[in-house]
Amino acid sequence: MSSTDPKAAAEQAARERIRVSHALNGDSVRLAQLYREWANTFDQDQVRVGYCGPAIVAELAGAMQNAYLDGPRNAVPILDAGCGTGLVGVELNRLGFGLIDGFDLSEAMAEKARQTGMYRNVRGNVDLNGLVSDFASASYDLTVCCGVFTLGHVRPHGLRELARITRPAGFIVASTRKSYADATSFESEVRLLQDEGVLRLVQCLKNGRYLEQEDGHYWVLQVPATASRTVCS
Ligand SMILES: C[S@@+](CC[C@H](N)C(=O)[O-])C[C@H]1O[C@@H](n2cnc3c(N)ncnc32)[C@H](O)[C@@H]1O
Repeated sequence: MSSTDPKAAAEQAARERIRVSHALNGDSVRLAQLYREWANTFDQDQVRVGYCGPAIVAELAGAMQNAYLDGPRNAVPILDAGCGTGLVGVELNRLGFGLIDGFDLSEAMAEKARQTGMYRNVRGNVDLNGLVSDFASASYDLTVCCGVFTLGHVRPHGLRELARITRPAGFIVASTRKSYADATSFESEVRLLQDEGVLRLVQCLKNGRYLEQEDGHYWVLQVPATASRTVCS
């Protein structure tokens, strides 16, 4: 493959943008700036790098709804945390979910998600590394979070806020890039939250397809019916 091959160059540029985003160490100002500049070309880049997380997360959410939740799928309130341009919302909609809300740190990415028409409501400027105070406790049957527990983005502690927002007996489906799970305390955070009675690990699909160049893990967690409601500090 020649180094002047435009397809290879575009793939390389997409990988480079991802690499830069991973180096931002959770700095919300720089992340918001990077995603503001990336919003228009983000979806094309994801195709270039073979990003398949959104479809897998949506399928897992669908399986949880089928197996455990009452009522028709299109009436199940579901939150897409770190929704980006709405790739997960598109997949959820394809599977028949109809009450999809989203939030993202980047207003530019949130606006792209709104433009898909798949969401009931999308909020920008919401930081999952802090308290997500715009969202009330126990509001959603399902919370999905794809591509957000990734290097330089959201710390494992963000799981606690997702648990707060999800209703008792509801589910969280989250992806972690493999290198993120290896480099952070995500698995320990899951164990800690489980010990505290905040979450229960239902399933983890380890080393599943995520990106062409790297696998990911897919976590299915349940808020116990009588969950301890400690909030993020
Ligand atoms: C790799 S993109 C994934 C977007 C979408 N979930 C998807 O799967 O296509 C990561 C997203 O996380 C958002 N993000 C980064 N840090 C965040 C934070 N602290 N709180 C909320 N969202 C954040 C970014 O703005 C970006 O839209």
